[in-house]
Amino acid sequence: MSGSPVKIAILFSGRGSNMQTLARHIAKAHVPAELVLTVTNRPDAGGIAICKAAGIACTVIDHKSFDSREAFDAKLDEKLRAANIDLICCAGFMRLLTADFVNGWPDRLLNIHPSLLPKYKGLRTHQRALEAGDKEHGCTVHYMRPEMDDGPIIVQKSVPVLAGDTPDMLADRVIEQEHIAYPEALDMVLKKMAGTA
Ligand code: GAR
Repeated sequence: MSGSPVKIAILFSGRGSNMQTLARHIAKAHVPAELVLTVTNRPDAGGIAICKAAGIACTVIDHKSFDSREAFDAKLDEKLRAANIDLICCAGFMRLLTADFVNGWPDRLLNIHPSLLPKYKGLRTHQRALEAGDKEHGCTVHYMRPEMDDGPIIVQKSVPVLAGDTPDMLADRVIEQEHIAYPEALDMVLKKMAGTA
């Protein structure tokens, strides 16, 4: 791997704003990486149009066409290995991955989650932070481990929770930080992979 750019795949399920941010970041000259492909598990994901417009290869692997989680993950794994991927970034990829899949990519699988982990693993993180009366909320980029939303933290960014916030208002404040956190975390991981951190 040394000397040649790190081959990256991005997995997403929806709007794709983190995918787009990462794609733009990877395209910058100083980032020693290449975005080889993106994969979505949803044929209706908004991010597919972003890929088309930017000329980024996007593969749809519809999870509904598979009988089991294992079968879907095996297909995903096959696609990633066929493309010689070195590093996978989950960016709004809303599907649990099997332990076998995760363990097959040790420290080569990153995720972004819209909370200050270990708080609020799972869904509805903004609403749960509001319900708990938190004064601070945020996002986390971490290495993935088989447990959901678990693994060593690479970057966290926090935002204030303001009086009168709704979950959507808080989500808007957090996503801005997500778009800063993920490129920052990716740079740190690439440096580590290159042996310079
Ligand atoms: C982001 O807020 C991301 O952190 C979250 O989904 C959103 C995707 O937005 N991911 C998770 O909740 C994963 N557990 P995007 O499609 O615009 O990047």
